[in-house]
Amino acid sequence: MTVESVKPVTSDASELREPPLAGGGVPLLGHGWKLARDPLAFMAQLRDHGDVVRIRLGPKTVYAVTTPALTGELALSPDYIIAGPLWESLEGLLGKEGVATANGPLHRRQRRIIQPAFRLDAIPAYGPIMEEETRALVERWKGGGTIDCTSESFRIAVRVAARCLLRGQFMDERAERLCVALASVFQGMYHRMVVPLGPLYRLPLPANREFNRALADLHLLVDEIIAERRASGQKPDDLLTALLEAKDDNGDPIGEQEIHDQVVAILTPGSETIASTIMSLLLVLADHPEQSDKVCAEVREVTGGRPVAFDDVRRLTHTNNVVVEAMRLRPAVWILTRRAVTDTELGGCRIPAGADIVYSPYAIQRDPRSYERHLEFDPDRWHPERSKDIPKYAMRPFSVGNRKCPSDHFSMALLTLVTAVLADGFRFEQVTGSVGATRVGITLRPQRLLLKPVPR
Ligand code: HEM
Repeated sequence: MTVESVKPVTSDASELREPPLAGGGVPLLGHGWKLARDPLAFMAQLRDHGDVVRIRLGPKTVYAVTTPALTGELALSPDYIIAGPLWESLEGLLGKEGVATANGPLHRRQRRIIQPAFRLDAIPAYGPIMEEETRALVERWKGGGTIDCTSESFRIAVRVAARCLLRGQFMDERAERLCVALASVFQGMYHRMVVPLGPLYRLPLPANREFNRALADLHLLVDEIIAERRASGQKPDDLLTALLEAKDDNGDPIGEQEIHDQVVAILTPGSETIASTIMSLLLVLADHPEQSDKVCAEVREVTGGRPVAFDDVRRLTHTNNVVVEAMRLRPAVWILTRRAVTDTELGGCRIPAGADIVYSPYAIQRDPRSYERHLEFDPDRWHPERSKDIPKYAMRPFSVGNRKCPSDHFSMALLTLVTAVLADGFRFEQVTGSVGATRVGITLRPQRLLLKPVPR
């Protein structure tokens, strides 16, 4: 057991408090209407009510935690599993047998299978693909004109994840289909999470039909990718081979459904989170030209003017800080949920078995108690001499514990490379029709970012 996972000594059960109820609830809907109307503001103001707060979503009581220390305790405690409204809404997409939604021994086995593909020492092998895809982006953008950052960011995110982890040479047409399908599916999932009106989503309405079509295409695409690999007879050293060769606890091959769910559970969160973060980074480069210039200067100092290479990434410390600061202010994953599997406690409050617990990395990472000038974009706050004052767990965009994102090294390498290459190549300006305001969905990202790239 690591030191991090040691739980504080629990007080006597009779001494535990009932957490306060957040204000502003209304009969029947409770706080649901506030959460649906302005989820980011709602989650952020909960800290004013206490460290652990009860909120009512319709008839259900949900517990929210609002301090960095308690989010760490929640994520590291064995008393909670992955479940709750976010995961239930994602199950139709991710299946019940994929790593993102499984719990217990199945989850541990799945992590063992996928982990090698994401280890720190596995990442340099993806360098050439990341470089190639980033340079392709620059070549396309050199042509001038307006860039639709949503489709462009999705495109590179899907292509890099699919090419690195599934080694497909087939990805061009499929990457486009994946992008289109994922965009509709994630939008529909979000509606189903915040407005959980089950039967309404079964009506033959155009939006429901589009959602069902996109979901079916996504599953079909994954089946095609798996079938093609099998038919090729090839076994490259990649994640798909690891999944196809994996054995269950009895030494038998894992089932078809599990392989399918695993591919979906890795590709889809990977694409959506990376795409959203690239959009946020592009907005930063456009809104803070001085930061863009600073990144460009660092890149040129490190490369001496040659094209940026994957190996440069570890020396691009300021660029890395820009990425971290962008992720602090607009974390792709802005809400996380867990479910208590036993009667337990958090921060001296009673949490009953079966309770859903929710927290918002967005609220935690913008808390003025953790960050000076908390709303200011200041990458230098991540200099070691300044960042040491930031409380533990106040910046964990990849989470901690057994559900921590397996792809933290992969993601940081890719995002730093993309930021470096783009700032080295262009200055960016928003054009008419561009809306940089935050769009809340399963992930956070700028609403409709349209940029003009001006070559340097
Ligand atoms: C900016 C990029 C990313 C961010 C911010 C991010 C964030 C996260 C977070 C916060 C979790 C934990 C969820 C929880 O605690 O409940 C998670 C889990 C996960 N992420 Fe990521 N992620 C990113 C990129 C990726 C990529 C590129 C992939 C795959 C290619 C990926 C695959 C996964 C998977 C499979 C899980 C589930 C892990 C488990 O439950 O054991 N993520 N991610």
